[in-house]
Amino acid sequence: MQEYTLKNDDFLVSQTDEKGIILFANDDFCKLAGYTIEEMVGKQHNLVRHPDMPKAAFKDLWNTIQAGKVWDGYIKNKAKDGGYYWVYATVYPMVDAVSKKTMYMSCRRKPSKEEIESAQAHYKTLR
Ligand SMILES: Cc1cc2nc3c(=O)[nH]c(=O)nc-3n(C[C@H](O)[C@H](O)[C@H](O)COP(=O)(O)O)c2cc1C
Repeated sequence: MQEYTLKNDDFLVSQTDEKGIILFANDDFCKLAGYTIEEMVGKQHNLVRHPDMPKAAFKDLWNTIQAGKVWDGYIKNKAKDGGYYWVYATVYPMVDAVSKKTMYMSCRRKPSKEEIESAQAHYKTLR
């Protein structure tokens, strides 16, 4: 399957509710993922999950953000057409000022080749 590589200045953002339902995705994220904003909003964020990603990575992500802490790590995502792309993601817990509800936001940038290789090697040990 085809690998898509982020551009140096790509910055992929998405926001979810406390259950991981997508509330917002910016243009860079929609473009890489291959979905329109309408196709993304309202879906579980595992819409973009790639089967190569170990469950343990997402367990760690959710444990961290549900504890109110910031998680960062490398994620291989699946595009709508079956292709894939690696990102370095930072996921923030936040409380919406108006509704007072907990929400989460992920900001992603391009990882280097070396970063991808070491994440890949690490994830293989988690299987
Ligand atoms: C703000 C936020 C961003 C997320 N971004 C991704 C992502 O880019 N790719 C991904 O596979 N999972 C992402 N997740 C995790 C998914 O919610 C989900 O836990 C993961 O895809 C594994 O699917 P599963 O929980 O059904 O096993 C994100 C979660 C949150 C809260």
